[in-house]
Amino acid sequence: MTDTKVHNPQAKYRKDYQAPHYLITQTNLNIDLYDHQTVVTAELHIHKSHEHDLPLILDSEVEKVLSLSVNGETLQTADYEQSTGSLIIKSLPDTFILITTSVVDPANNSALEGLYKSEGVFCTQCEAEGFRKITPYLDRPDILSVFTVEVCADQSYQHILANGNLIAKSLDNKTGRVTATWHDPFPKPSYLFALVAGSFDLLEDKFVTRSGKEIALELYVDKGNLHLAHHAMASLIKSMEWDEKVYDLEYDLDTYMIVAVDFFNMGAMENKGLNIFNSKYVLADESTATDADYHGIESVIAHEYFHNWTGNRITCRDWFQLSLKEGLTVFRDQQFSADMGSEVIERISHANIMRTMQFAEDAGPMSHPIRPDKVIEMNNFYTVTVYDKGAEVIRMLHTLLSASGFKKGMDLYFKRYDGQAVTCDDFVNAMADANDADLSQFQNWYSQSGTPLVSVKETKHDNSLTLELSQTVFGRESSFKPFVIPIKFEILSAQTGQSLKRGQFILDELRQTFSFDITEEVDIVLFENFSAPVKVNRDVPLNQMVRIINNASDGFCRWDMLQSLWQKAAVSDDNSGVRERLIEVISDIIDDTKLDAAVKAEMIKIPSFESLAEGFDVIAVDNILNLRTEIAKQLAASKFEVLASEIDKLGVIANGYEKEVVANRSYKSALLKLAAYANTKDMLAIIRNQFKAANNMTEKMACLIAASIADTDLCKEITEHLYQQFTGQVLVFDKLSQIVATTENDAVYQAMSDWSTKAEFNRANPNRIRSLYGSFVMRNPAMFHSLDGKGYAFLKDLLIEIDSSNSQLAARLVDPLLAYKRYDTKRASLMKQCLVDLSKIKLSNDLYEKVNSALG
Ligand code: TRP
Ligand code: ZN
Repeated sequence: MTDTKVHNPQAKYRKDYQAPHYLITQTNLNIDLYDHQTVVTAELHIHKSHEHDLPLILDSEVEKVLSLSVNGETLQTADYEQSTGSLIIKSLPDTFILITTSVVDPANNSALEGLYKSEGVFCTQCEAEGFRKITPYLDRPDILSVFTVEVCADQSYQHILANGNLIAKSLDNKTGRVTATWHDPFPKPSYLFALVAGSFDLLEDKFVTRSGKEIALELYVDKGNLHLAHHAMASLIKSMEWDEKVYDLEYDLDTYMIVAVDFFNMGAMENKGLNIFNSKYVLADESTATDADYHGIESVIAHEYFHNWTGNRITCRDWFQLSLKEGLTVFRDQQFSADMGSEVIERISHANIMRTMQFAEDAGPMSHPIRPDKVIEMNNFYTVTVYDKGAEVIRMLHTLLSASGFKKGMDLYFKRYDGQAVTCDDFVNAMADANDADLSQFQNWYSQSGTPLVSVKETKHDNSLTLELSQTVFGRESSFKPFVIPIKFEILSAQTGQSLKRGQFILDELRQTFSFDITEEVDIVLFENFSAPVKVNRDVPLNQMVRIINNASDGFCRWDMLQSLWQKAAVSDDNSGVRERLIEVISDIIDDTKLDAAVKAEMIKIPSFESLAEGFDVIAVDNILNLRTEIAKQLAASKFEVLASEIDKLGVIANGYEKEVVANRSYKSALLKLAAYANTKDMLAIIRNQFKAANNMTEKMACLIAASIADTDLCKEITEHLYQQFTGQVLVFDKLSQIVATTENDAVYQAMSDWSTKAEFNRANPNRIRSLYGSFVMRNPAMFHSLDGKGYAFLKDLLIEIDSSNSQLAARLVDPLLAYKRYDTKRASLMKQCLVDLSKIKLSNDLYEKVNSALG
């Protein structure tokens, strides 16, 4: 296809959902694995779901269909029709067995979707619509089928895995090929199918469920990496215990398998009984992984494990319902992480994700409700909106119904819908019915996109305080329906700072007034614990801001008000006095010896470019960049002694992933980073000494990051040192890539180009691409947004290269360009030109959908 105008992929609409006309009760596969000519034979037991004469339309994106038979009779070419994406068979009986034989080419599958082979391992990724690349099928989540799978491969593959239980394994001595047969007793949609064939090191453990069933736990990692699998295994066991304790949910198969692979488009995949993970979310030890990596592993392992009930046992009716499983499972993994570590730190990090990524997505061209209405490429909808805003919506239900009401709702949800494919409405109805609550207005969170803006006006009377609240959505002021917004609050005495009252109220009209009986001067703290995913428009006087930062009971709110002060500094004139006040407040925090180390670390961090940008209609790139460095430099200069002595006092922190030492390392990292802005000889000496003394990757990376701020040569020296020490270890290489890509001057292009010639770099591997080029476009605003347009052009060329091999990856990298309308005219037109250039070539559906929506 050379005529670009012909390329016009069709959108699908949520309103067009139709129940399937055919059902597949049993799926028996035989998969004969070869690098280029894998033969897949599918025996499908099919019946009509009601009486009709409609054709069977299978989704099909295999290389080639070799043969088809119905009830044992081979179909002639006239009996069926093949068109792009589908295989159509007419005149079928009510019940029949369809056998298809087709061929696929895993070794040439660089998209990493369907069946692919990389680094000697055969592996599948079927969500959302990858199964149709393996065999023709009704590839939609409301077709639930019992799978039996025979996999044949050369005996050199030591492990041949698929979902469920291994029921037979045999070797054909003549051919040297092994056949392994797996049976999964739980009916499942095709997107949960998985297969792996490779040779691994295996870490084994077991778990005894509350009802006494013994589960074999198996973690498969690349040979030589066994010592890196223990944290993942421990995390799995914690997740299993937690889901029993908190939700009364037990695991249901005899074996739980996790395979770690280095070639993977996302974090991990919850295939029934056989999770496949990006190795980044499995492999760790303290010499190669940071605390952030440990945290990521614990939460992703939990996420995929929790999917076994929220996703697999109860799945989605159609892909518009994706948040049914993702929002809910993210909420569950957030609860788990809070229980394992610190609730406040978790809330800070999720509020950051919402504000820097989700609010931006919702203000851009790809804005969609957590339950989208229109989709071209489903892979484009695995978004921060569906996942993270989805989780915030579930959290609001938890807040509105209370923990026990929420649990009742979950119990009813499992009781009603176990084994079914359902909708977001079904979920909310279970919550409502279990609590005798009316959640009809709450459903607006599912149907409306955009970030609500809550405006607050407070008036003090003699014996009361009134809050006038209103809500709106930018650009949809007159058409949106009001959201149900739970607001947790605290009232503090302005005089003593003491807590007078804590509670919650609900804003569910366009405007509403709330009154509190109060006689003294008070400070009111709103949206404790980030109780709703909204923006707040509230003019808080400086003195009151500072009191709230000092006195709020909720650590999240103290951090949050400090962020508001930063925002205020970003938009105020230099001579407004706000900056000075901000510096004073942070200085006091630095001096505060009683603060919890983990929270203190968050409070002395310079907010990211993106989080400051969130406060601007037109993002003032240079102002934001300057503000960040200026304030950091002033703090580093004026507080250098304290910062240095705190670093010194922390000394050598004990290794391990216990809460207290993690908090200390986080604090030390924040101190080093801030002090690095004083690029004095003393500071360079501190970094060198700390680096020499460090015996874990968290502290080494903290030193490297400090060096990247303080001194180019020292940064290069440490990078080279770590590269030599960990040559060949790709996950460490990825960390160093991030440092290379965030060089804040023109040398960054040469540096990336040199770096990409190293043996560890591989353009076909998404982890490598994301850590080098992804860091450049997402974490190096100074260079990505440089006025010469070089950053934008660099991304455009990269996208053109990657889109033809891995469109999912390309479509994720394009995001920073989509927001061009939020930048000044010069930058906006440079960014837009890149999109226009892209729109002129033949793009994947993934990139096409995003580029076209941005160009309107
Ligand atoms: N369902 C997976 C999760 O949330 C994510 C996922 C969707 C995915 N599509 C994918 C993972 C494609 C890898 C590749 O855990
Ligand atoms: Zn998920």
